[in-house]
Amino acid sequence: MFRRSLLPLVRPRPSDEPGLVYDEGVEEGGVVLSGTTRLPATGETYPVKNGYLDLLKGQLGGDNVANLTNFLPGAGRGYEPLWRVRSLNLLTGEDFPNGRELGIIAEKVGLQRGGLYLDLGCSAGLYTRNLARALGAAGDVIGVDISPSMLKEASRLSRKEDVAPSLVRADAASLPFADACMSGAVCGGTLNELGDPARVLRETHRVLQPGSRLAVMGILEAGTTNGRRLQRFLSTGGIQFFAPEELGGMLDAAGFEPDPLVTHGAVFFAAGTRR
Ligand SMILES: C[S@@+](CC[C@H](N)C(=O)[O-])C[C@H]1O[C@@H](n2cnc3c(N)ncnc32)[C@H](O)[C@@H]1O
Repeated sequence: MFRRSLLPLVRPRPSDEPGLVYDEGVEEGGVVLSGTTRLPATGETYPVKNGYLDLLKGQLGGDNVANLTNFLPGAGRGYEPLWRVRSLNLLTGEDFPNGRELGIIAEKVGLQRGGLYLDLGCSAGLYTRNLARALGAAGDVIGVDISPSMLKEASRLSRKEDVAPSLVRADAASLPFADACMSGAVCGGTLNELGDPARVLRETHRVLQPGSRLAVMGILEAGTTNGRRLQRFLSTGGIQFFAPEELGGMLDAAGFEPDPLVTHGAVFFAAGTRR
């Protein structure tokens, strides 16, 4: 699913101008459910199928073992019921239902601004769907992920919950959007899985409007010996963990004015305003 009116903002390469146009397919209420889009400059086509716009087509997209586990059949279906509904309870040691987390993210990203919001590494679309619901007619959300299995599930859940975010398969390290077209961006857990988080933050800065906000939830470096041992093992698969003091510097280096970091157990909420 991808909102037809947003296709002109989609640039498979940032220099591609104008963006995509809709060729043919099945459309419902302004949302392309399946069909073909095309880049006028080159004639190259990109399908909307299995619930998302696929800009990577035959390319794998994942660059580490952690990424590739998200490609396994069933990864999308299992992700929210098996892990995501309790992940912050386990990681924070507090009563932390998804509603509490979503409230923090919505407040930090400045949803009242309205407009177009980006979810970086949306998986099954927990943030994407909920931001779309909260925005209603005041805006739109685009969820980006590299995993077909996750995006398919994000689409299934969106339709089940009667929300219509746009979903695109693309690499967050080369965001396929026009400069300064977004009102805000969120990132739930994905910073830990990215091969090059600094590059993704710079790309996010490029697509955000000046004064707009980025809100990130992620996992901190462990404070105990056993925790560090586990994280060292996980890092061999490409997952990285951040020290509290490095997060502000990462946001600053990418062009954001960082807020003071908020932590709950092993979880951080980082946010900043795009300079
Ligand atoms: C921890 S999960 C995100 C969870 C989700 N944001 C949530 O709050 O439920 C990380 C996701 O990032 C995706 N991902 C990893 N590297 C990516 C990249 N370079 N570009 C886009 N998505 C990526 C993975 O496929 C995976 O679905």
